[in-house]
Amino acid sequence: MAAGKGTRMKSARPKVLHGLAGRPLLQHVLDAAAALGANGANGADNTPTGPAPHTVLIIGHGAAAVEAAVAGQGVVCVRQEPQLGTGHAVQQAVPALDPARPTTLVLNGDVPLIRAETAAALAAACGGERLALLTVELPDPSGYGRIVRDTGGRQVLAIVEHKDASPAERLIREVYTGMMAAPTAALTRWVAALRNDNAQREYYLTDIVAMAVAEGVPVVAQPVADETEVLGVNSPHQLAELERRFQRRQADALMDAGVRLADPARFDLRGTLVCGQDVEIDVGCVFEGRVELGDGVRVGAHCVLRDTRVEAGAVIHPLCHLEGARVGAGALVGPYARLRPGAELGAEVHIGNFVEVKNSRLAAGAKANHLAYLGDADVGARVNYGAGSITANYDGANKHRTVIGDDVHVGSNCVLVAPVTVGAGATVGGGSTITADVPPGKLAVARGRQALIDGWQRPVKGGAKPGPRS
Ligand code: UD1
Ligand code: CA
Repeated sequence: MAAGKGTRMKSARPKVLHGLAGRPLLQHVLDAAAALGANGANGADNTPTGPAPHTVLIIGHGAAAVEAAVAGQGVVCVRQEPQLGTGHAVQQAVPALDPARPTTLVLNGDVPLIRAETAAALAAACGGERLALLTVELPDPSGYGRIVRDTGGRQVLAIVEHKDASPAERLIREVYTGMMAAPTAALTRWVAALRNDNAQREYYLTDIVAMAVAEGVPVVAQPVADETEVLGVNSPHQLAELERRFQRRQADALMDAGVRLADPARFDLRGTLVCGQDVEIDVGCVFEGRVELGDGVRVGAHCVLRDTRVEAGAVIHPLCHLEGARVGAGALVGPYARLRPGAELGAEVHIGNFVEVKNSRLAAGAKANHLAYLGDADVGARVNYGAGSITANYDGANKHRTVIGDDVHVGSNCVLVAPVTVGAGATVGGGSTITADVPPGKLAVARGRQALIDGWQRPVKGGAKPGPRS
């Protein structure tokens, strides 16, 4: 169900498309659903296996944007316009349900942290024959539908919505989370019979509980172990709160695997992080896309790594930005370095402060330690690339490559105007602008010769115009 408006987000964007850990809220729910194989409904061990489930998405507010966001995922979208309640929402989905699947699971697009295992257990509790409700005990149950039981407290009789509940019913702290699993055929029958004669003039999905009881269909209340799984997002505050909880969940999983996080409360993973043994991550780092860190890698404070692989023993010093890069074993990067897509650093490469590398390969042991730019370059082994030097790789229309052979020394403040090749073992004098190839082993100097002016005097305050004496 993802048709609701989300007024309290105060946003032009549909609520379910707001991001949590880099994915839309709705995507978290779809991913949990996708993790349930058709066998997930029956598997006692709750291990999702088998073919992907048939997923029907109920949309309404911002329907076009939501539809676009889920395109290509094999999800069937149905529209609910206007939104007349959760029962009305499921009514719209019924024609799209697959009657061959005995269990239908109802999830909420704005309750993102539901685990696939919990959803699978709920589906298993239904087993195509029982109505299974995911429930939770809350210290403050106001606003929620209450689970009403018989006098012995054993049998669930109904769900009563807060606005329709009597004072006695409002004391009940066991509430419905909004997630259920129902026999598909019975669900189809029940939602067709819903009425809206209640306090909100809505078609309540929760009214099917009393219908099941009346038909003698068993109703199972399944308590959720971790309350985080059933928290919904209605406001920016709740979104931020769930983001932190989700990040903590990921941080705990990494620490369980041996990763040493300086502070799990100051860690953000928006994608997948694969770590070897003895990885250390300091505070304030952000990992996006797919990042791999080899054994013994250390990442300093406040780094951002996206779609990057760092091999064993490399150190990323604080305040670096790496995207689409590969860092070789034992390399040292930063502080304040920027590796852009296609930066490939070999083993033991050193990239220092304020150095930018883009679409360039640096062979083992090459160094660019200060204030430099390497773009579209092939840099040989053990090259020393001086402070302030750059590759002029762009002529205003096309990009060209710069090739620097093994053991080359490029002095400070050089401009290598591509396309250009500096042969192995050559030296480029500081301040040179290199526009022609340098043969191996040669010294190239391409700058104005130093002039020495005799007898020149510095101007003095109130003195004559400066210049050589006559
Ligand atoms: C619902 C339950 C309540 C439960 C609570 C848990 C009903 C009648 N009540 O309350 O028992 O304790 O969830 O949070 O089901 N939606 C639609 N179309 C609609 C109305 C809602 O798609 O016409 C979607 C919303 O976008 C949301 C979900 O259904 O994802 C739940 O709607 P919401 O209004 O938040 O739930 P309540 O009715 O407050
Ligand atoms: Ca409502």
